[in-house]
Amino acid sequence: SGRLDLDGLRIVVTAGGTREPFDPVRFMGNRSSGKQGMAVAAAAAVRGAIVTLIAANIGTDAVPDGIAVIDVSTTLELEKAVQTAAGQADVVIMAAAVADYRPAQVRQGKIKKEATGDRLTVEFVVNPDILAELSAAKHEGQTIIGFAAETEPDPATLLELGRAKIARKGCDFLVVNNVGWKTGFATDDNDVVVLNRAGDIVMEVSGSKLSVADRILDATLTGV
Ligand code: PMT
Repeated sequence: SGRLDLDGLRIVVTAGGTREPFDPVRFMGNRSSGKQGMAVAAAAAVRGAIVTLIAANIGTDAVPDGIAVIDVSTTLELEKAVQTAAGQADVVIMAAAVADYRPAQVRQGKIKKEATGDRLTVEFVVNPDILAELSAAKHEGQTIIGFAAETEPDPATLLELGRAKIARKGCDFLVVNNVGWKTGFATDDNDVVVLNRAGDIVMEVSGSKLSVADRILDATLTGV
């Protein structure tokens, strides 16, 4: 956009997908490539923001100079990094795909077929909801933005799910995207609806993840 309209704003962005190990060689993960979150970080930096990127299991070589990068892997690591960074942040943007569950037990050694027979059962426990925690703890003047990944092709139902989610999470804005085998995750383009706390649509936009990132910043941080 060529404007330094976010000059000096301290923004923390999470990107990528958390991994939850259940033995030393295996994890449960998700297909987030980090593209959308990295695009938000890059767009904010170009507009003058002081950006910290918390990167979960993504290559960050393409991240522009000047963005501070903190690498994490599990949800609990991401939680700690975000909570530490959030204290000083004007804005937190949770674009990472965070695992809702982690294995109840992490084995010290590799699970062997000889030991399990022809079926393996892994028990999961619920992870903390980082976005809800941030929203509950947010300080005066801070803006908390979440994303919602829903496998819901029907636009009206997608909107209902988004409204229920922002009410549950308590964040200021929610960027809702439909995801599936071929949409949302790991693509170059995205198609999003941005909701405010009241559940009103403040913006609908589709395009490259970088252009979507800029529009999200417009809608949430500059009131455009
Ligand atoms: O990385 P890409 O390949 O470019 O794909 C982009 C994306 C589809 C991953 C991204 O646009 C996106 O939707 N990110 C959010 C994914 C997600 O975790 O959605 P959710 O509906 O499960 O969670 C809602 C919000 O709560 C998210 O902001 C998430 O970061 C947060 N959350 C979720 C679970 C949890 N335990 N703690 C959280 O803070």
